[in-house]
Formats: sequence, structure tokens, C-alpha cells
Amino acid sequence: MPALDVPLPLTATPAAWLAVALADLDAVHQDHLHCERKAAQSALSLMRSYPERSDLVVAVARLAHEETAHVVQVTQLLGKKGKEATMDFGDEYAAALRDLVRRGEPGRLLDRLLVFALIEARSAERLELLAGAIPDEATATLYGGLASAEVRHRDTFLELAAAAAPDTWRERLAVLARAEADIIAAMPIRARIH
Ligand SMILES: [Fe+2]
Ligand SMILES: [Fe+2]
Repeated sequence: MPALDVPLPLTATPAAWLAVALADLDAVHQDHLHCERKAAQSALSLMRSYPERSDLVVAVARLAHEETAHVVQVTQLLGKKGKEATMDFGDEYAAALRDLVRRGEPGRLLDRLLVFALIEARSAERLELLAGAIPDEATATLYGGLASAEVRHRDTFLELAAAAAPDTWRERLAVLARAEADIIAAMPIRARIH
């Protein structure tokens, strides 16, 4: 992984989010299930757009495989708690980030990779906060493992970004990381991952 000029995520999640999340962990798990599914789908969508980039295809196919394993883990967690999965309520945070992706290539590829890296970074940060605070040990351990995986995924996307645009990815990352911090700060604090 190339060294970063900025911490990712750029800003820390406020303590108020953790308190709200801990007060309704079932809702967090139900939302998290869809985050994992969408992470797998997003990774595979890159494969559809850039089939000629074999390094990218291999990396995102492996990543999607891990995300679907996370779907299984979170589904089993809900089952263990006697909770049913809910519908996907949508994700305004991810939608706002996707709006920043440029339409024309080669900027589009770079932006998609960096946006996915930023979503992984924020998810990892919050999963780690949950891992440190959830009273049930087995659930906390599960969340700690998921947080480590999302940090690796962040770095996978950054490596792909650096390979795709070696001269411009850092500058663009700084812009998008600032935007991510503003978007997350504007979101309501609720019992969801973002
Ligand atoms: Fe995941
Ligand atoms: Fe991930």
C-alpha cells in the first residue's frame, strides 16, 4: 500500500453516533446486512465495466467473495438473535458520494475506486467502534473481524486507484476525502452504519 497523505476516514465519527447505535443494535445489524450485499455488488459492477483490466478483475472478484461471506455472517448473527432481515431503506450517504464520480474516463474509474475506498474506510472505522463497545463478546469479535477486512478492502481500492492513475490519485483522494467528511457530517445520527 502506498503511504497516505491524509488519514482515512479524514474525520472521526462523533461519540453520539456510537451511543445511538448501541441503543438499537438490531437495527444496525439489519442495515449492515445490506451494506455488505451492496459492497459485493459494487465490486462486481467494476468487473462488468473494466473486464480488460485483469488485475482489477481478480482483486474485485476476491473482494466480492469476502463481502458475500460477510453477508452470510451478518445473516447468521440476525438469526441467532431471532431477528429478521428488513428491506433496504437506501443509503443517501453512498448516493451522495456516487454523485461525485465523474462521467468520462479515465476520471470515472479513478473516482469509483476512491469512493469505494472511502466507504470501506468509514465502514471500518464504525465497525471498529462497535467492536470496542458491544457488550456481547461473540458479536464484538465478529465486528472486529469485519472491521479488519474492511480496512484491507480500503487498501485494495487505494492500490487499484494508484495503479490506474499514478500521477493524480493522491490529489483526487484529498478532494473526495474532504467531501466524504462533509457528507457524513450532514447525515442524521441514527442506528445505521452510515
Ligand atoms: Fe464487508
Ligand atoms: Fe469491504
